[in-house]
Amino acid sequence: MNNFNNLVDMDDYTVPQWNEIIALAEKIKAAPEDYADKCRGKIMATLFYEPSTRTQMSFQAAMIRLGGNIIGFDNPSNSSVAKGENLKDTIKIVSTYSDILVMRHTQEGSAKAAALVADCHVINAGDGGHLHPTQTLTDLLTLKLELGRLDNLTVCLCGDLKYGRTVHSLVKALSCYPNNRFVLVSTPDLALPSYIKDVIRAHGADFTEVNTLDEAIREPDMLYMTRIQRERFSSEADYERLKDVYCLTKAKMQYAKKDMIVMHPLPRVNEIEVAVDDDPRAAYFRQANNGMYVRMALILYTMTREPKIKPLLLGEIHPTVACTNPKCVTQTEKYLPHSFINRGDILVCEYCDERILL
Ligand code: NCD
Repeated sequence: MNNFNNLVDMDDYTVPQWNEIIALAEKIKAAPEDYADKCRGKIMATLFYEPSTRTQMSFQAAMIRLGGNIIGFDNPSNSSVAKGENLKDTIKIVSTYSDILVMRHTQEGSAKAAALVADCHVINAGDGGHLHPTQTLTDLLTLKLELGRLDNLTVCLCGDLKYGRTVHSLVKALSCYPNNRFVLVSTPDLALPSYIKDVIRAHGADFTEVNTLDEAIREPDMLYMTRIQRERFSSEADYERLKDVYCLTKAKMQYAKKDMIVMHPLPRVNEIEVAVDDDPRAAYFRQANNGMYVRMALILYTMTREPKIKPLLLGEIHPTVACTNPKCVTQTEKYLPHSFINRGDILVCEYCDERILL
């Protein structure tokens, strides 16, 4: 049983709760000074096992702007991780030093693994190529501020839809609002994982898949460009083959709607020409700034909401079944219970969502 307000996946909160956090972020953005003391005396730990600029610094700036303090590392080789400490021990200890723990990790399902042992609230700041819910809150706030709504949208997502964790969390979230449809632009190798497509279908939302940006550019209200995730490829040759496959240029922007917005979680590599930055429809720098306000709202919400006691693992424990995803946290954190949701002919890993055929 867990008694904390964790955000491991967007579905840890309900849609009305997402809306509440977004509304709070709008209020904070309008008058940040009114919130300058809200977390006085509180400590947030940021444990970043993977590189980050925006997520880490916006979380830290958010806590400082709320009057709180921060501890943590941004390079695990400077911590006891370098001496071979497992995730459990690091989290167990750091969570007793802090009130809220924000973690980014290379392994899929690591945030759930951390929440299982933590003695404070845990926020997932990205677990490998799996999920990134706080980027999604940033993206929802940006849509709300730029387009005024989270429903009735045609959203085009372009690039690395396979490994792009921001895409996974965003598609899952936008599927929950009425009448959103998705145009998925990727090569077949970089297509959206089928479990995310199933989430779209389960909400009765519509999606189409195309190979080129040219086929999609005229339609969307929002175009979400993403970087090809070099660090997630098993072969450098595959990355080299795919790295420049999509590029949004000024020339392509001529065909887009006049009120379309371009979003990108950043960092950008080559997928948006720098000349696009001057187009008023380029919303990605505003989006990155929104990330700080939404994280202020999330921290405040997490710290002030009465936690609901609930189990973190809902499935069946199968000690003899191993998850087949080589990037799953259960591969290295051997003490974790092998927990799966039973869907008849498949078992779904509760950490990383990998499907195992029985
Ligand atoms: C993204 C991430 O880390 O997943 N960046 C971010 O958090 N804003 C996107 C990326 O790295 O491509």
